[in-house]
Amino acid sequence: MRTYSNNSQLSGALRAERAKGHRIAFVPTMGNLHEGHLNLVRKAQELCDTVVVSIFVNPMQFGANEDLDAYPRTLTADKEKLFALGVPHLLFTPRAEDIYPNGVQAQTAVSVPQLSDTLCGASRPGHFTGVATVVTKLFNIVQPDVAVFGEKDLQQLSIIRKMVHDLCLPIDIVGVPTARASDGLALSSRNIYLDDAQRRHAPLLNQTLLEVRDAIACGFDNYRELETRALTRLSEAGFEPDYFQIRDARTLGEVTEATEEVAILAAAKLGKPRLIDNVRLALNPVSDWGMLAAL
Ligand code: PAF
Repeated sequence: MRTYSNNSQLSGALRAERAKGHRIAFVPTMGNLHEGHLNLVRKAQELCDTVVVSIFVNPMQFGANEDLDAYPRTLTADKEKLFALGVPHLLFTPRAEDIYPNGVQAQTAVSVPQLSDTLCGASRPGHFTGVATVVTKLFNIVQPDVAVFGEKDLQQLSIIRKMVHDLCLPIDIVGVPTARASDGLALSSRNIYLDDAQRRHAPLLNQTLLEVRDAIACGFDNYRELETRALTRLSEAGFEPDYFQIRDARTLGEVTEATEEVAILAAAKLGKPRLIDNVRLALNPVSDWGMLAAL
């Protein structure tokens, strides 16, 4: 595994990989790697000959009152985890001065309208512009064929897909299912902020999403009522919910007659960390019997 913190050295190494005819897969991260990140790296390895992982805690995606300074930075442990996996082939650890030579305020921004303003974007203004901007910069530096992102951050994944489509970037975006602890809690770097009691409580977020998914699967279609009940349940259990929403999984907009799959998404603070999670459900899947009948 070769580590670069300098853009032009990384570009040189990537030129050599491409000269061998290698396709490049890219996994951007902010470090503090857990099994969820390692699954992204494994997927990247399945898809391409050369895997690049970046570790960069991106100041542009943190709000003024968020945890930029406290965000866990664990580069030595991260390198050991990647080394044990045998990938990536190239690790990119740029410095903030190189990504934002004139500072974040002076940075040209990439913003994905509408999708960035809803759900997490409503309570984290500017967050997704920070994500879209740094991901564009990293894409331009790495120039990957494929980039891999986790489905836990479903809104982020949708925004990146739209950005790549709108800006005609020739990159395949691949989503990887959420990695979970055995009790269902979605793995996240911020779970380390949970104390023991909060950690025992935290899986309720996923349980509530699954119960709502089951209710919809059983034909309950009053979505507003399901959302309200879920919010009440989480509040009574000590969460401070930000949102609990049933949306079209493709557009992340309202569910309509045309919706084929719903995404049930939630964000809630539990003590210090803000947890997010989502589950999805295909609506009216065509059954084998239905297909047979249609023949
Ligand atoms: O998902 C993350 O870790 C970050 O938002 C990303 C995509 C690495 C951009 O900083």
